[in-house]
Amino acid sequence: MGQPWHFEKREVKPEQLASVLQELAGPDLLGINLTLPLKEEVFSHCSPTPEARAIGAINCLRWRDQGWEGHNSDGQGWLDSFQEELKVTLEGRKVLVLGAGGACRAVLHKVRGQRPAEIVLFNRTPERARALAQESERVVGWTDLASELEPDCVVVQTTSVGMWPNQHEVPLAWPARLPSGVIACDLVYNPSPTLWLSQAAEKGARTLDGCGMLVHQAMCAIEWWTGHKPESAPMMRALKNSLR
Ligand SMILES: NC(=O)c1ccc[n+]([C@@H]2O[C@H](COP(=O)([O-])OP(=O)(O)OC[C@H]3O[C@@H](n4cnc5c(N)ncnc54)[C@H](OP(=O)(O)O)[C@@H]3O)[C@@H](O)[C@H]2O)c1
Repeated sequence: MGQPWHFEKREVKPEQLASVLQELAGPDLLGINLTLPLKEEVFSHCSPTPEARAIGAINCLRWRDQGWEGHNSDGQGWLDSFQEELKVTLEGRKVLVLGAGGACRAVLHKVRGQRPAEIVLFNRTPERARALAQESERVVGWTDLASELEPDCVVVQTTSVGMWPNQHEVPLAWPARLPSGVIACDLVYNPSPTLWLSQAAEKGARTLDGCGMLVHQAMCAIEWWTGHKPESAPMMRALKNSLR
């Protein structure tokens, strides 16, 4: 972007969060990204945007009017990646969502706004999926994937299963044959693709890995901090090179 900015990482334990935010407070800092386990902890230190409040997790902060503002760019990042890379919309499609953690809440928030035909939730611990489900949404058993698949449906895998160093694990087995037009998305980006996504591709599904979401959530955060949106291509190249 031709700007004299730099980005550095720090390990911050939950009990250190208050003092680190106090140290960094002020207009010289453009913004902060946060990851687990700080995404919920940080609510008590900032005023959340409506999007962050609806998702229940914060992944970026900026200093405004003498205080921290907290936002969530994960859901928008996933949706931008879906639309940019696959060039289709979610409208009218059945969407199956695996997982019930923070990343799932961000994706679900965005899926709900895209007028899907139906949303079905699966989670290893079904009570957590039931706690997320809205009235029109169904929670089914963790192993019911095969019976819920239908032509042109979208399956979004938001659990951490398959992530390095457990790259040989899959969250759920695909059936021997997939209906036509299935789109399989995995939020995990290391490795890219995951074993689960490769298996879907072998059975004829279109696939979306987690790299685009990672790049697009960062682009949304940079735009929120600076008012300038970076281009995706150089960020995607840098990410792919760092994952090699
Ligand atoms: N691409 C991106 O930009 C991006 C952004 C955010 C997150 N992510 C990725 O998304 C994944 C989830 O992150 P999160 O923040 O949502 O984590 P989280 O809040 O800890 O949720 C973890 C989810 O994974 C499930 N899970 C964990 N181990 C499992 C297993 N062995 N079998 C079945 N389910 C299992 C959990 O199920 P239970 O409820 O049963 O425990 C829960 O639904 C991570 O891999 C993260 O790297 C990617």
